[in-house]
Amino acid sequence: TEAPKPITSAKDPRFAPTLYAHVGQAESWTLEYYQRNGGYEGVKRAFAMGNDAVIEEVKKSGLRGRGGAGFATGLKWSFMPLNDGRQHIVLCNADESEPGTFKDRYLMSEDPHQLIEGMLIGGFAMRATLGYIYIRGEYVHAAERLWAAIKEARAAGLLGQNILGSGFDFDIQVHRGAGAYICGEETALMNSLEGLRANPRLKPPFPAAAGLYGLPTTINNVETFCAVTHILKYGADWHANMGTEKSKGMKLFQISGPVRKPGVYELPLGTTFRELIYDWAGGPTEEMKAIIPGGISCQLLPYTETILDTPMDYEALAAAGSSLGTGGVTLIPKSASIVNTTFNSVRFYAHESCGKCTPCREGISGWMVKMYEKLVRGKGQPGDTQLILDMADNIGGRSFCALADACLGPVLSSIKLFRAEYDLAEQGQLLQGGGRWRDE
Ligand code: NAI
Repeated sequence: TEAPKPITSAKDPRFAPTLYAHVGQAESWTLEYYQRNGGYEGVKRAFAMGNDAVIEEVKKSGLRGRGGAGFATGLKWSFMPLNDGRQHIVLCNADESEPGTFKDRYLMSEDPHQLIEGMLIGGFAMRATLGYIYIRGEYVHAAERLWAAIKEARAAGLLGQNILGSGFDFDIQVHRGAGAYICGEETALMNSLEGLRANPRLKPPFPAAAGLYGLPTTINNVETFCAVTHILKYGADWHANMGTEKSKGMKLFQISGPVRKPGVYELPLGTTFRELIYDWAGGPTEEMKAIIPGGISCQLLPYTETILDTPMDYEALAAAGSSLGTGGVTLIPKSASIVNTTFNSVRFYAHESCGKCTPCREGISGWMVKMYEKLVRGKGQPGDTQLILDMADNIGGRSFCALADACLGPVLSSIKLFRAEYDLAEQGQLLQGGGRWRDE
């Protein structure tokens, strides 16, 4: 018999949203609602399969980390040591802070049991006894929903000792961050949880070898754990049958900028930009020139017919010179100055730099942001763009964590794609015929 064709479009009649299926429904965050709609079936199946079989199932599903980097989830889980006698920990990175990214907050506020179940499954598979959700400090509402859901789960015997008679003990704590982007970097997050300053740690060792309090730890994004819940419920094949050959499953794409219906759309990986922008988000409201494909650390792409027809998956976007990142698509209109847009990004990174290493502290927070400030304030001089490129050369690949390199994504790609605007800024002008600052 012929293998079923993979679902690569949300228009396929076989496609049904799962991650966001209950977002917007009354009482969707309660245990009663969740169980009424098939909740906690995945974890029951996991218990019946056994720890190692769960890891194999996640591997087979082809799931890749949804925090942005796309690392194979099952493979990451298999790095956890077996029977080493130490306590194992699962961590959920809910410090969603990448500009243009706003998918995890609704997963947590609207369907918190989905995340709890995914962490339970992960905890069981990796022999962990404790889970932490490190949630962005500003997500107060989502944190409250999580706390309430954890309380309900404990009362129902879904968290705590001997869960559902399986002999498995597991509990979850929620920890609220205090508003720093760097806390989303996994090792900085662990330092922050330990009560230390959120400076990143050197890798290796990776968290499975030495993570929180030096214990074997696995850290996954909110959406990743939620996807695991459905993989265990519906099976690895169901997941592997969606998306493209190497980018499996569904993804929560977010779209912002001048479009008619900005928001979060759950679509199979491999959906094209055109489909997202025109069929789902209602189309742009003005003429466009660039696309940020997955959060501002990604390289900009030009708004061309070829790019519009590019599938949003890990491979196709790498081939196009960018990355899928968090799936947070932001559109940049023709009326916006690219130099000023990039200044906004650089200013963000400078503000969020932890200041630990010199290339980031002096390079991004010092020189880079000052150069952009000079250009957008009409004080540009010939040679400024070249100076920015030279600085980027000295920063790239030399910083302690990914933050400085992430800042260079928009800088280098905007210069490559829109050099003429930089030339204009060197003459003291932002756009031909004037142009406006987007933040004015
Ligand atoms: P990374 O590629 O260094 O690591 C990804 C994951 O794989 C980590 O958990 C890491 O421990 C693991 N890993 C990688 N190589 C490994 C190895 N050899 N052995 C064992 N484990 C290994 O990426 P990183 O720095 O963790 O994340 C960068 C991404 O984060 C960017 O692509 C960006 O899109 C995204 N991001 C997301 C944000 C959000 O709000 N969701 C905020 C900022 C960035």
